[in-house]
Amino acid sequence: MTSIDSAVLKRAAGARALDFIADGMKLGLGSGSTSEAFHELLAVRVRGGLNIVGVPTSERVAQLARSLGIPLAKLDDTAPLDLTVDGADEADRDLNAIKGGGAALLREKIVASSSRKMIIIADGSKLVDRLGRFPLPIEVVEFGHKTTAARITRAIAALGYANVPLTLRSKDGAPLKTDSGNLLYDAGFGAIADAAKLDAALSSVTGVVEHGLFVAIASTLVIARPNGVEIIERSTSAG
Ligand code: A5P
Repeated sequence: MTSIDSAVLKRAAGARALDFIADGMKLGLGSGSTSEAFHELLAVRVRGGLNIVGVPTSERVAQLARSLGIPLAKLDDTAPLDLTVDGADEADRDLNAIKGGGAALLREKIVASSSRKMIIIADGSKLVDRLGRFPLPIEVVEFGHKTTAARITRAIAALGYANVPLTLRSKDGAPLKTDSGNLLYDAGFGAIADAAKLDAALSSVTGVVEHGLFVAIASTLVIARPNGVEIIERSTSAG
């Protein structure tokens, strides 16, 4: 797939997500290139008179939304939100996902968890049978981060994940700092056997702020492929 094809599919997913937006909604605005395609389309509707307010999931998106004329608000002044629309690095048909490739996972998870509904928009390459090929981002506090990483390794080994490389993410030759001033480790699981168990295990490690596994948070997946857009809804039995 060329980058032009990929941009077309991201836009198609974003366009389909617009069908879920209603006047007066309080929206979580996701981060990443697919979300940005959605924001550009949303801004056209806003200019046409749509009345919504958005809560951005990153400083970058706050800046973009302002430049596009999308009205913004603080989460604490608007929660609960009606809907969050966000991208993903991987998603499966149980609507579990890996996010955080763009380092925004902490605010993304706070905003999505504060929303009645979360829609993930993506091109078909993001839909996988099993999560884990994309390295799972884990956000940790800077203080003692190597010790935290060792604790993560022990916690996941107890679940049977051996030899999982944990790579400290860097940018311009220095450790990358998230919008909240934390560090990120990317964990190369290869394949995740039980996302819910791993979610719980990682969340219990002292020093871990959050991780990019979104388990039972999304309610709808919008997957764009060259031959059309597929909508996958969470089944009611899954809650
Ligand atoms: C940002 O931290 C991520 O969670 C993004 O939503 C995710 O990386 C998807 O990004 P793209 O839409 O650019 O693929």
